[in-house]
Amino acid sequence: MVPAARPLPLATQAVDRLIEALTRRTGLAPESAPAARARSFAAALPTDRLAAALLDLDAGRRSHDVDALLDHSTNRETYFFRDRRQLLLLERELSGMVRAASLPREITLWSAGCASGEEAYTLAVLGLRVLAGSGLATLTADGDVRFAGGWSLRVLGTDISADAIRRAGAPHFRAGPVAAFRDPSPGNLTHFRAVDGGFVPLPAVRRCVRFAVANILDGAPPGAPFDVVSCRNVLFYFAEAQRRRALSVLAAGTAEGGRLMFGSTDSGPDDPAFVPRHHEGAVVHARRA
Ligand SMILES: C[S@@+](CC[C@H](N)C(=O)[O-])C[C@H]1O[C@@H](n2cnc3c(N)ncnc32)[C@H](O)[C@@H]1O
Repeated sequence: MVPAARPLPLATQAVDRLIEALTRRTGLAPESAPAARARSFAAALPTDRLAAALLDLDAGRRSHDVDALLDHSTNRETYFFRDRRQLLLLERELSGMVRAASLPREITLWSAGCASGEEAYTLAVLGLRVLAGSGLATLTADGDVRFAGGWSLRVLGTDISADAIRRAGAPHFRAGPVAAFRDPSPGNLTHFRAVDGGFVPLPAVRRCVRFAVANILDGAPPGAPFDVVSCRNVLFYFAEAQRRRALSVLAAGTAEGGRLMFGSTDSGPDDPAFVPRHHEGAVVHARRA
């Protein structure tokens, strides 16, 4: 005879429900390593706070415990100029887009899942380089930028982690093998100045970049669609249903003729509106005009 299964203790059931809600709200797959960290965090909460966190999470409300849960369950590793080959490809693509544009206009880029901002600042540096290469922007002696011919640049970085966005908005980055600048060669530092043993972006970069706390699963942010959408190394831990939802948000957030890019371990948009463009092992996805 098969012994009757023992019911799970109430606290374990509550933690399971919280992890289910975390998957629904943030995409995080329940069997992933970050979800295991979230589970340990939740298991240590008193039951009244666990119940309140579950209600808040399900209702899309932020609270101290929800924020702490998100901080425990996100992998925020990031650094400047990550995946150099893909960035070089994007730079070429952007130059082509600027050359082909019939109107002077703002170039818009969205870093979705920007962590502490390194990717958003990288995209701004890239955009400034492209405009400077076409004679449409000049770095001034005081580190600011002068745009020409009616062109400008806007980068939005969003992340679900409020702590990450706080750090992104007060940027001070270190160099080192596991730090923000893994390759602090002079070419990578032209848009930064040295301060207190680290580096801060020049005003030219800062003025183009904004940050906001936002969940990709809630839809594209105000300002969409963007010429470039970068969502790199974010969807890796997502459960399948949420990954599909995120892909459709990112696709809708990409302007016609724009570019969508993922990390090297992420799979692509799987959407006939996009055509992959390859160069030297890197890929970005062009949305048909
Ligand atoms: C590994 S970091 C990647 C940072 C950067 N994109 C890069 O490639 O260097 C992943 C980031 O995605 C964020 N994230 C995870 N789920 C998210 C969601 N549903 N909405 C927005 N950001 C999310 C995490 O908070 C974390 O900062």
